[in-house]
Amino acid sequence: MMIDLHGRRVLVTGASSGLGRAMALTFAVCGAQVALNYRSDEDEASALVQQIQAGGGTAVALQADVSDPAAVAAMFEQADAVWGGIDILVNNAGIDGARAPAWEGQVPDWNDVVDINLTGAYLCARQALQRMVRQRSGVVLNITSVHERIPWGGHSAYTASKAGLSMMARSMALEAAPHGVRVLCLAPGAIQTPINEDVWSDPQGCEDLLQKIPMGRIGQPEDVANVAVFLASDLAAYMTGTTVYVDGGMTNYPGFAHGG
Ligand code: BGC
Repeated sequence: MMIDLHGRRVLVTGASSGLGRAMALTFAVCGAQVALNYRSDEDEASALVQQIQAGGGTAVALQADVSDPAAVAAMFEQADAVWGGIDILVNNAGIDGARAPAWEGQVPDWNDVVDINLTGAYLCARQALQRMVRQRSGVVLNITSVHERIPWGGHSAYTASKAGLSMMARSMALEAAPHGVRVLCLAPGAIQTPINEDVWSDPQGCEDLLQKIPMGRIGQPEDVANVAVFLASDLAAYMTGTTVYVDGGMTNYPGFAHGG
């Protein structure tokens, strides 16, 4: 079965690297028109636009800091001007933040994580839903994490932001369903991207990480991108208000593979 997204207008936040980049490419391969949001990495975003265009796809790069309400509003107005609206929003922009126990953490670090991962996703979803409810169709796909469910020492802001994002999405799904709009979460596990390079590039860190993954391998960005296009497509037309985990089994208590 082919996933055909021709005619769909997609906005991917944080598209200049990692999962955002992979998802943007996969949406383009499926025929969607892709708007690539980036905050500061203009060169990476333009290179990706060119790569998509060279493959026969349609793409545009849109700069905005997702935590800035005025910048987000301006970005959606630009998308309106270029393509006349939006059909799929992928709320992907996110950061892990500094690693520290809560009592040593700094308030500005907490704010950065929550502003980008949670408030940023809210601001983008708000703009997208205004348009989608009006047109009576659309999908908001939020990239959460296994850490919407699994606690993570040193990352209380991150886990709080992802758990919050999940509940935000489920509430929005209730609101939007009668209007023909779906809201979902995709929760990746450990995927090999720049965000966790310090862990997978370190032999000890990598060994520790693999212990936490029943499938015994780190995920690749395509593992996430393939599920993202499915969830955003009409093949998933009866799915809303839930989280799909793409984690090699990480949420399945790997320590209980033996003993007990
Ligand atoms: C984080 C990664 C981490 C993974 C598994 C993700 O949400 O962004 O840094 O490797 O969770 O712990």
